[in-house]
Amino acid sequence: MPIVTLAFTNGEKVRCEVPRGQTILEAAQAAGIVLAKECENGACQTCRGTLRSGQVEELDVTELSEEDFDAGAVLVCSTGPLSDAEIEFPYAPEELITPAPHQMTVQDVTLLSPTTARLRGQLPRRNDFRFRPGQYVNISLPGLQAKRSYSMASPPSDPRNVEFHIRLLPGGLMSAYVTDEAAPGATLDIVGPYGAFYLREADGPAVMIAGGTGLAPMISMLRALAQRNATRRIALYYGVTRFEDLYGLDELEGLKARLPGLSVHCAVAEADNRWTGRTGYVTDLLSGPDLPPAEQVYVCGPPAMMHAVRDLIAQRFAADVDVFYEEFAPVS
Ligand SMILES: Cc1cc2nc3c(=O)[nH]c(=O)nc-3n(C[C@H](O)[C@H](O)[C@H](O)COP(=O)(O)OP(=O)(O)OC[C@H]3O[C@@H](n4cnc5c(N)ncnc54)[C@H](O)[C@@H]3O)c2cc1C
Ligand code: FES
Repeated sequence: MPIVTLAFTNGEKVRCEVPRGQTILEAAQAAGIVLAKECENGACQTCRGTLRSGQVEELDVTELSEEDFDAGAVLVCSTGPLSDAEIEFPYAPEELITPAPHQMTVQDVTLLSPTTARLRGQLPRRNDFRFRPGQYVNISLPGLQAKRSYSMASPPSDPRNVEFHIRLLPGGLMSAYVTDEAAPGATLDIVGPYGAFYLREADGPAVMIAGGTGLAPMISMLRALAQRNATRRIALYYGVTRFEDLYGLDELEGLKARLPGLSVHCAVAEADNRWTGRTGYVTDLLSGPDLPPAEQVYVCGPPAMMHAVRDLIAQRFAADVDVFYEEFAPVS
């Protein structure tokens, strides 16, 4: 039976036998090993690791692109080993917070731009909800058998009061709920926190790359850093498709005033005369000669942007830079 070694960022390595036909996640769970996971069907990429040696096969259809699979990305919820193998995960087991269900009361819904809503919610006074800056929760749609994932934009210092930035998509279920129904006092079931995309403690420089509401987890991270007067050098690259999608610029100005090491670079792809800044995609911002140094890179946004940025990151950053991804994959 193949033995899979699970390697973590704290240097810990755990070995696990994986019976034929079982996924690595199933075998790890049976052995009492806790790994980051959520959907367990190859969609959310929360269980993503990197293959360091050996061979694996996908047992199910997953959302992982061919390029990512070829580059060694593994979704352990949908993958089994073909030989002994080693898989590295971008976290230490003790950093994982166990997800749990909670009820959230809607405080208010405000438009941050014509296509972006801010939903603020409050959890009950007595609750044990905690999260790391950058993580997300699943929100159930009232009356429907559907849920959607949203990253907290608020910092974890006040986990009772949470803020989400929600892209309003024509025909979208959550978009319709937020636009037409969500009102102060409404209750929503949430489960979380999820995700291995969260701010890693370090002093070295970081680059953040956000597309659209992919800015939300970055704002959570920046707010957390601002609360402790961090001087870390951070370059944020933020791109949107249309001027209507642009939001958060005032917030980012405020964060720049509190974070001396923060620089912000924005681009609008289909700009009109309301936008006087850079025209182009976030990849254009990253293609110039003046890319700052980085020990960590955080990337978050919709699938098309993630796809474009992944190739560029491989070209522009050294192989030993830690890169963390969160893809806002739509529910299929
Ligand atoms: C881990 C994770 C975290 C996320 N965090 C956030 C967040 O903080 N803020 C946020 O706005 N979204 C976030 N998303 C995406 C979010 O979960 C929903 O998929 C999105 O908001 C659409 O939901 P909806 O119900 O309005 O639309 P749906 O009913 O799901 O879809 C309506 C239509 O829009 C299409 N569609 C869905 N998403 C996109 C897209 N990104 N671009 C273009 N077309 C699309 C669908 O294919 C469908 O045709 C996250 C997703 C994941 C996996
Ligand atoms: S838990 Fe593996 S892709 Fe969601």
